[in-house]
Amino acid sequence: MTGNIEREKQRAAEAAAEFVEDGMTVGLGTGSTAAYLLPPLAARKLDIRCVATSPSTSQAARALGITVVSFAGLEAPARLDMTIDGADEVDPSGWLVKGGGGAHTREKAVAAASDRFIVIVSANKLVDKLTPPIPLELAEFGLAGTLARLGSVRLRGVTHSPDGGVIADYTGSFEDTKALAAWLSGMPGVVEHGLFPPSMVSDVLVGRGDEVERITISGGAAGTGASM
Ligand code: A5P
Repeated sequence: MTGNIEREKQRAAEAAAEFVEDGMTVGLGTGSTAAYLLPPLAARKLDIRCVATSPSTSQAARALGITVVSFAGLEAPARLDMTIDGADEVDPSGWLVKGGGGAHTREKAVAAASDRFIVIVSANKLVDKLTPPIPLELAEFGLAGTLARLGSVRLRGVTHSPDGGVIADYTGSFEDTKALAAWLSGMPGVVEHGLFPPSMVSDVLVGRGDEVERITISGGAAGTGASM
């Protein structure tokens, strides 16, 4: 089972690497699926520059000879052509849960600055309905008050984010994803949450066995899956 999942992640990542073209500025996600993207991308020896969403991705990409630049160093308006990243869950309308690795704040900032956001997943990540936990990054300042306001929340007890945030998870049950995302976005002390809206997503590439299915997301309506 684990072997199948890893193979599916790898197939989706390999397919995504083919979307990248010479001259592009590309966002590189974080996590085990995004890690599978790096070798096939490096092997294409394209003239590209990349923005990494975590120190670990930056280090792994550079070790393979991929040019990594800082997000802050992009010339205004700081747009990327494409970002490719994994996800923890994908629902039928294209809402995502991300942040299993705690990198969702940088991942969302890079995805939001990208003309296309391509999500790469194994088939087990497709769900009928998103479920908790929802990853959070919280400001250290006023943390006790933020935790009290959130109510159902669990600190992960891991190293702070590269930006100094406390990594936690919202554990409450929910029916309305959009309403939860809005509530978390409006909560003082929440730096970022791991709910990514369909409006941010262009395509989902799903590894299924040795095949890759492409689901096009447009404004919350998922298009028919096509095999690649
Ligand atoms: C990193 O913080 C996450 O958003 C990952 O992209 C997500 O958790 C998927 O991770 P895997 O590719 O390791 O399953």
